[in-house]
Amino acid sequence: MTLRITVIGTGYLGATHAACMAELGHEVLGLDIDPEKIATLAAGRVPMYEPGLAELLVRHAAGHEGSTGRLRFTTSYQEAAEFGDVHFICTNTPQKKGEFAADMSYVDTALDSLAPHLTRPTLVVGKSTVPVGSASRLAERLATLAPAGAAAELAWNPEFLREGYAVGDTLHPDRIVVGVREGRAEELLREVYATPIEEGVPFVVTDYPTSELVKAAANSFLATKISFINAMAEVCENAGADVVQLSQALAHDPRIGGKFLQAGLGFGGGCLPKDIRAFMARAGELGADQALTFLREVDSINMRRRSRMVELAREQCGGGFLGRRVAVFGAAFKPNSDDIRDSPALNVAAQIQLQGAQVTVYDPKAMDNARKMFPSLAYADSPFEAAEGAHVVLHLTEWQEFRELDPATLGTFVAERRVLDGRNVLDADRWRAAGWSYRAMGRPTVE
Ligand code: UDX
Repeated sequence: MTLRITVIGTGYLGATHAACMAELGHEVLGLDIDPEKIATLAAGRVPMYEPGLAELLVRHAAGHEGSTGRLRFTTSYQEAAEFGDVHFICTNTPQKKGEFAADMSYVDTALDSLAPHLTRPTLVVGKSTVPVGSASRLAERLATLAPAGAAAELAWNPEFLREGYAVGDTLHPDRIVVGVREGRAEELLREVYATPIEEGVPFVVTDYPTSELVKAAANSFLATKISFINAMAEVCENAGADVVQLSQALAHDPRIGGKFLQAGLGFGGGCLPKDIRAFMARAGELGADQALTFLREVDSINMRRRSRMVELAREQCGGGFLGRRVAVFGAAFKPNSDDIRDSPALNVAAQIQLQGAQVTVYDPKAMDNARKMFPSLAYADSPFEAAEGAHVVLHLTEWQEFRELDPATLGTFVAERRVLDGRNVLDADRWRAAGWSYRAMGRPTVE
């Protein structure tokens, strides 16, 4: 059955969700308070780099030749309220300034703006990552503010999409989790997700707090797995062992598994770092802070990777950065994304620059964002240009383009053939064969 769906907040999550809802056959109205963003999306352009999303937009956004016309955009809450049977809230919950806790103001404002226009029975579904307990609070607020009263229901339906794979993760998720109370919510959400459910995607129905916790727990587990292998990398360095081989050997045990066991510069981005911090802050409020003290260590191990990389780079520069040129390959927090939020690569680049080196950055997609955030770094249009005269090359975000680089050709540009692989994915033998000193985090040094 075709539903009329609105998606409030058209950032990474919302723009993807809106386009994917249209792809699933629903009539969709995307809402954002930023008219420029709305105009861009309506024109079929995506304000960020997300593979496959622009194609979906053009296929469904009204006004494009041959489109289904099922996807439209607006800035009006009244229009959204009149249109929708189901309203998804997809606004972001960044880390509060100077605190670990999540900033709920965008979610709260979205609900407060929508609710007074809800005059008939409707379902509001939260997708944002929120502190446990938020759904229950928002449900009461919704029933109070909406003219429809208790007939305006709330459900929680956390999002697990990865940037760079957002479209695939939304259309074919690992699981769909819904936190509901009594009412029509479950039935309506089964209709929203009828196609993936038919395809066999597990549909987990639970209460509000459990649904909220699934997201916090999932991201904490992933962060812990990454910091675990990075802690092993630290031990490997001191013991002369190889963390890449260690990780591969661990991965053969199906109970452990090889995913998210890639040692290197650690995690960044708009989710994992802030989500584990918000989770710790919330656990503290609930009197369960002891349960999550390990996440503090997960966070410290992760941040230590960045300082370790700076140290290694300094060593490679002969003990000091003054007058040295450093090439940085990668600015995005991970490959296949132009997102630079809490990017380990840019964090390292900026630290090195502050310590006196001349740092030149190249990234296949994140250059514009990086330039805006770190205008004092130098930027180049190719890895070769970035490497010009460099005393060391730092490989900090593992784009395919960097794996495919020919080390012999690159070697003709640099002052010294020294590479530091912050992601443990370059072919060490190939680089060494081309005359490079290859050094990585958690692997034995071979000169
Ligand atoms: C993450 C979760 O995966 C997703 O389910 C959630 O909804 C949002 O947060 P995302 O931030 O897009 O998604 O990135 P992800 O692919 O999870 O990578 C996170 C970070 O971990 C990146 O900086 C990546 O480079 C790093 N990472 C990942 C490692 O350092 N090692 C690994 O083995 C895997």
